[in-house]
Amino acid sequence: MKLKNAVVLVTGANRGLGQEFARQAVAAGARKVYAAARNPASINIPGVIPLQLDVTNPVDIARVAQDHPDITLLINNAGIAETGGILSPEADQMLQRQMEVNVFGPLRLSQAFAPVLAANGGGAVINVLSIASWITGPLLATYSVTKSAAWSMTNALRQELQAQQTQVLGLHVGFIDTDLTKDLEVPKVSPSSVVEATFAGLEQGAHQVLADDVTRQVHGALSGYPDIYLLPIAH
Ligand SMILES: NC(=O)c1ccc[n+]([C@@H]2O[C@H](COP(=O)([O-])OP(=O)(O)OC[C@H]3O[C@@H](n4cnc5c(N)ncnc54)[C@H](OP(=O)(O)O)[C@@H]3O)[C@@H](O)[C@H]2O)c1
Repeated sequence: MKLKNAVVLVTGANRGLGQEFARQAVAAGARKVYAAARNPASINIPGVIPLQLDVTNPVDIARVAQDHPDITLLINNAGIAETGGILSPEADQMLQRQMEVNVFGPLRLSQAFAPVLAANGGGAVINVLSIASWITGPLLATYSVTKSAAWSMTNALRQELQAQQTQVLGLHVGFIDTDLTKDLEVPKVSPSSVVEATFAGLEQGAHQVLADDVTRQVHGALSGYPDIYLLPIAH
């Protein structure tokens, strides 16, 4: 899918990767960029149309889909990460909160926008996934569960939207320099490099983008020995 003249909706567009998606969509010549956030007053990107959207709120999702039937590219970017092991007493609550944002949000948005994209000729969905869709560790254990689920959902969505010619692109990436990783002392890539790789893949018709070296290495090692997902991602 080409970005020129696209009508783009980015969730979680007020900061981090979402802000960069919205910025680069404007720069690439999108006809309209709807930058959605829980608090639209926090959006400060020239050339975008701010929208109020909490991805955990089905009423917000239905309103945005009804009010903006011109959207051709949905970017499911909004996400949260909570740290802690899978055996911590709070793991079930952490998992529930993250599933709401990282899985049920993109699921409900995809359901609401599938007919909109079909009516506009197919369009595309970008789901922001992670290296944590494939590997896990004590720090990001519950987050990884949600990104594995979101990966599987993305694959199902791709199959079901094929008939209406909607391109479904899963973005996998390691650590990005955003608020989400501010407490982690690890090598990080820039949001701009991740969005550049993702939009290049989108324009080439890709179904998957691996946006950094470590993600490409892990992906390449998934069928290797020893199985890479038996090793922890971070301590
Ligand atoms: N940073 C990384 O290393 C990394 C790596 C791989 C994948 N990712 C993924 O990349 C995506 C963007 O993350 P980021 O790094 O940019 O994190 P971030 O800087 O913490 O930004 C997260 C964004 O999601 C929004 N958000 C959270 N809950 C929301 C909700 N219920 N409804 C609507 N928006 C909500 C936040 O809005 P508020 O300002 O209202 O909180 C914010 O705009 C996420 O899906 C994340 O899992 C990140």
